Amino acid sequence: MNEFDPAFSALVSERLESIEARLLDAARADTPFVTEAASHIISAGGKRFRPLLVVLASQLLPGAASDRIDRAAIVMELTHVASLYHDDVMDEAAVRRSVDSANARWDNTVAILVGDYLFSRASSTVATLGTEYVALQAETFARLVQGQIAETRGPLPGVDRLQHYLDVVADKTGSLIAASARFGGMVCGASDEILDALGRYGEQIGVVFQLSDDIIDIASDTSGKTPGTDLREGVLTLPTLMVAASEDPGDARLRDLVSRPLTDEAEVAEALALLRAHPLLQEARDEVGRRAEAARAELDPLPDGVAKDALAALCDQVVSRSI
Ligand code: FPP
Ligand code: MG
Ligand code: MG
Repeated sequence: MNEFDPAFSALVSERLESIEARLLDAARADTPFVTEAASHIISAGGKRFRPLLVVLASQLLPGAASDRIDRAAIVMELTHVASLYHDDVMDEAAVRRSVDSANARWDNTVAILVGDYLFSRASSTVATLGTEYVALQAETFARLVQGQIAETRGPLPGVDRLQHYLDVVADKTGSLIAASARFGGMVCGASDEILDALGRYGEQIGVVFQLSDDIIDIASDTSGKTPGTDLREGVLTLPTLMVAASEDPGDARLRDLVSRPLTDEAEVAEALALLRAHPLLQEARDEVGRRAEAARAELDPLPDGVAKDALAALCDQVVSRSI
């Protein structure tokens, strides 16, 4: 984590290992089938970005109890994983974290109910932390769901499509990542001023995280995912929304390609080549970089130390994913 501080790095690794084991414990149920289905996506791995933020923020002040750090982290990850079970039903996705999605492996009913089960496990854990944690978890869940509904409904007439997209990303992705950073601060007893700064930082780095993903989908052949997935699905993201808004007649062909789902692989390859060579892709990267710097600036009110340095370093790591 922080290669300059082995003790801090060891502490973070120890917490993440403990959280990993406790996540699988939380997925246990009364029948082997529910246990298997509920641990399916957890066992498949994942970046554990939300637990990492909880752990890092919990180290801003001394004295956070390991057990409370772990519980706060698993609430965030279980909520995230639960939402993925539902998301894959809504998106009719067959693969998640390189394994069959729950809906593909079993069916939609199993996937929805197992998502509910995991959310109930998150709820019983958050109840052990205190009412202020329950309240934040509930507000976050409300935002996440409304972000998903806004995505599904699309922009209202007259609303700029890029602004709509950025609002959806902030609500459906940024909100839970913001809550993760706040949870970490709450566990170590941070002041309201620090908690608010952590919330703003978390939300912004969450948006950066998603925007980087959008660029990787276009620019990277080595991401471990197939490039052009958004183009095939006809999903507009930061770079393609910028192209769609361009009035340059030279962009007419690319505007056409990004305006519809592409089923012809030759068209996907053409769109990818045009996008990769387009100055707007660099402009999208610059925008992601500026947003990462804005996230980093939110850390100013935090107490100096290794935890703050590690949170700042995440800003670079999240951006360098896009290159
Ligand atoms: C990722 O979006 C998915 C989400 C942000 C969650 C959507 C799900 C809900 C609002 C339901 C929540 C329900 C419970 C029980 C917590 P994506 O499709 O853009 O990302 P992907 O590429 O990872 O599929
Ligand atoms: Mg999805
Ligand atoms: Mg989705």
